[in-house]
Amino acid sequence: MALRSVLTGVGSYLPERILTNAELARRVDTSDEWIKERTGISERHIAADDERTSDLACAAALRALEAAGRGAGDIDLIVLATATPDLTFPATAARVQAELGVTKGAAFDVQAVCSGFIFALATADNFLARGQAQAALVIGAETFSRIVDWEDRGTCVLFGDGAGAVVLEARDDDAERGVISTFLRTDGRMHDLLYVDGGPSQTQSVGKLRMVGNAVFRQAVEHISGAMLEACARANVSLDDVDWFVPHQANQRILDGVARKLGIDVEQVISTVALHGNTSAASVPLALDVATRDGRIKKGDLVLMEALGGGLTWGAALVRM
Ligand code: ACO
Repeated sequence: MALRSVLTGVGSYLPERILTNAELARRVDTSDEWIKERTGISERHIAADDERTSDLACAAALRALEAAGRGAGDIDLIVLATATPDLTFPATAARVQAELGVTKGAAFDVQAVCSGFIFALATADNFLARGQAQAALVIGAETFSRIVDWEDRGTCVLFGDGAGAVVLEARDDDAERGVISTFLRTDGRMHDLLYVDGGPSQTQSVGKLRMVGNAVFRQAVEHISGAMLEACARANVSLDDVDWFVPHQANQRILDGVARKLGIDVEQVISTVALHGNTSAASVPLALDVATRDGRIKKGDLVLMEALGGGLTWGAALVRM
């Protein structure tokens, strides 16, 4: 029987400090009203000065392991999606591996910005399906507060920090559950719509996030819808078969636009953007964790995740929980 990657646990972590729209309105020329109306965001979490991306990742991973009833000794692969690594190298996943006490297999980072978790999930799924690992931690963790330009009102209101993680286990005994299909896409021609203007090779600095927001917005609805349909087509299922949609949380208007375009009931779309903002690669597993813990997403449900981010990158993953 073919190997399947079954999602056996999910966990997440948000830093303690909450930054409200009202506080932001004291820093830049904006208002709670504008941010809520244009994005749906009310507040976001910000990592403490001594909290690194790896710390957020470890906290989320420990909760995912607990939910799966697994320990560090069971894990033989860590794929961590981040655009805000602790250091230029080694991979943040290497530090997470050591902190968790995982001593087997490989650990590496995947960089696809806001689509990172979908890319990481697809990567780990391929390892597991080929028998190259037995149990993986797939993590999305970000500290975007460190690369946001806090003087640019067009971007600083959008982002927050956080982490989410899942445990994926290779199984050949339960044909129903697991990752059913994934779809990944990059189009580097849109590189300049969303980027960080620093990096070791080009500027020898960390840099700040730059975005042509309205152009990204237009791309988002189209490509996200396409990715969702493609992931369904690859699995020979229809959107009507999907129980829950877990989107990347960039902007409530994008979530609503995609739902409208595809004729999806908004009640089936998990939204955490109001309280988390855009946490980039962390947003999909964070939303998945919220909706699993509050009892909406249950074992056996068909879940469609999707994201679009810098690159541009986009993708979708269909999973039977
Ligand atoms: N407060 C008040 N006014 C603002 C703010 C703000 N925080 N930000 C921008 N404005 C102003 C602009 O200056 C502009 O003013 P002008 O008309 O006088 O020039 C006006 O509001 C409209 O600006 P737009 O950029 O056209 O506003 P839009 O409705 O497109 O909303 C937003 C901006 C929220 C950024 C939206 O475009 C968006 O969400 N884009 C997509 C973001 C995204 O999905 N990113 C991808 C993932 S992120 C990743 O991969 C890292």
